[in-house]
Amino acid sequence: MPKIPFNIPYLTGAEEAYMLDALRSRAHCGNRAYAERCIALLKEKYGFHAVFLTPSCTAAMEMGAILADLQPGDEVILPSYTFSSTANAIVLRGAIPAFCDVDPATMNIDVSLIEELITERTRLIVPIDYTGIPCDIDAILAIAKKYNLLVMQDAAQSIHSFYKGTPCGGSAPLAAFSFHESKNLSCGEGGALVVNDPALVERAAFLQEKGTDRSLVLKGLRSKYGWIDLGSSFLLSDILAAVLLAQIERVDEIVAKRAVVTSAYFNLFDPYGEQGLLQLPAYPDHIQVNHHAFFVIFDTAPNRDTFLKLTGQKEIYPYSGYVPLHSSRMGRKFGYEPEDVPVTEDIAKRIVRLPFYTDLSENGLDYCISGMQTVLEQIYHC
Ligand SMILES: Cc1ncc(COP(=O)(O)O)c(C=O)c1O
Repeated sequence: MPKIPFNIPYLTGAEEAYMLDALRSRAHCGNRAYAERCIALLKEKYGFHAVFLTPSCTAAMEMGAILADLQPGDEVILPSYTFSSTANAIVLRGAIPAFCDVDPATMNIDVSLIEELITERTRLIVPIDYTGIPCDIDAILAIAKKYNLLVMQDAAQSIHSFYKGTPCGGSAPLAAFSFHESKNLSCGEGGALVVNDPALVERAAFLQEKGTDRSLVLKGLRSKYGWIDLGSSFLLSDILAAVLLAQIERVDEIVAKRAVVTSAYFNLFDPYGEQGLLQLPAYPDHIQVNHHAFFVIFDTAPNRDTFLKLTGQKEIYPYSGYVPLHSSRMGRKFGYEPEDVPVTEDIAKRIVRLPFYTDLSENGLDYCISGMQTVLEQIYHC
């Protein structure tokens, strides 16, 4: 294993016992005992209205896109600076992405640019919470209300982040979380669709269960279930839900450990930020982050590339971040040119995501910081 990889999934210690218990229960499919416990805990901790555990955040957003009733030709506003899944969920329904630029302070969607992208065909806005920094969800919901649009928050990275005291994913009608191994809470591959609009909950259960009304049979409301809607197998096996429960139960401790990494990175990079050489994330006063990740924007692309190269030589592995969607091969098929989303296009060449994992707070952080310090001194001679 490299000295400081980009990510190592965390184990709380309870995973093995829970997983074995789930295995021995002989009830392994979705929505069984451990799923129910995860769902109850997520609702209790974060006040979500309804939670559906899914095989990934990707699957949760695909389920959300069906639930949003997207039709071919509908337009969806989303940042270009995001993961392919945010766009694929809507493109799979035949909808057209309208890529919005980002605010460099947070790398989240620039709310001031949303209204100019709205047309008669716009149906949905899908903001993300980059590195766990909440997007400006109140402003986005206000725009959505004004134009009668739906919002699905891609909260892949922001479980346990808060916006004005409200948990991320708690106020949009739809929100999708990731429990992939790279996230704060992991069961390897996993996700959740949060449905806060009560009018959408019943149908969500049909979509999750392959387009059947099996959920009504389980509630004793039908004697037989049948095919009544679109859908897929949007379910997380209870064996993985057992792993997830072990993690959700310890979320406060996980986030506290990760906060140590954020502080160390601010201490290291602040002096360079103060000299205008680097730009660090800005956490507005009204948010509380979950310390999912940390990014730094270099002054020039060559300095960013040198940083990646020299840290790699020390077996410290930061990562160059997303390739903007609008200028990727798929984005160009929708007619986009790189200059159409200029801030994203520019910053994508200068940004790095630093190694970030829960264990780093106790193992390797000093090496990581001193290695990066040496590299920064080589680049900036200070
Ligand atoms: C913003 C965003 N959305 C969606 C995803 C996809 O999550 P998953 O791997 O759980 O499908 C990711 C994964 O990193 C992400 O960063």
